[in-house]
Amino acid sequence: MNIAVFASGRGSNFQAILNAIDEGRLPARVTLLVSNNSDAGALDLARSQNIPAFHLSPKQFASEEAYVQQLLALLQQHNIELIALAGYLKKVPSVVIERYRNRILNIHPALLPSFGGPGMYGHHVHEAVIAAGVKVAGATVHLVDEEYDRGPIVHQKTINVLSDDTAETLALKVLKIEHEIYPEVLAAFARSRVKIEGRKVWIQ
Ligand code: GRF
Repeated sequence: MNIAVFASGRGSNFQAILNAIDEGRLPARVTLLVSNNSDAGALDLARSQNIPAFHLSPKQFASEEAYVQQLLALLQQHNIELIALAGYLKKVPSVVIERYRNRILNIHPALLPSFGGPGMYGHHVHEAVIAAGVKVAGATVHLVDEEYDRGPIVHQKTINVLSDDTAETLALKVLKIEHEIYPEVLAAFARSRVKIEGRKVWIQ
């Protein structure tokens, strides 16, 4: 399975995916890295591994249409079968979502449908979780549809929130879980072990 990773930041989930591939836990290849942020650590990581890496932003194009066409062309040229969003802060164009329906995944650092949606990214998520006083937190892998963080849930893993947890300690614990479950879910897709019926998704 040829995976495209889309990332805006440091790329630790991208690194976890590459580790899983190296260690034989994920029968796939990352054949494309796309970032909307020219400073993203994920771009450097891809280049260090000789993975084709592109900084792609609507600002580089005369029209949204031209940007979307370039994105679609890259996905086609690299024979992409699945797109893994890994800390990608830009909305995926609806034409791409339509073309790759049920083949775009995202990892979110909370238990959706709580603590998701516009503005809920990075430290904002963990701060909201601590402020809400919930006792269980975790990470969610979900399919991407037209609404932020609302697509069908594929897998979740939980941890307990302890009385002395802060947004920072929680972020670290959740990130560890993210690095475990994202490659596991991708491996399930690569092995065709995922059953999708509308919003009901199971790993078999
Ligand atoms: C992760 O917490 C992920 O859940 C969220 O953005 C963060 C990205 O971290 N969507 P990294 O760039 O993979 O290290």
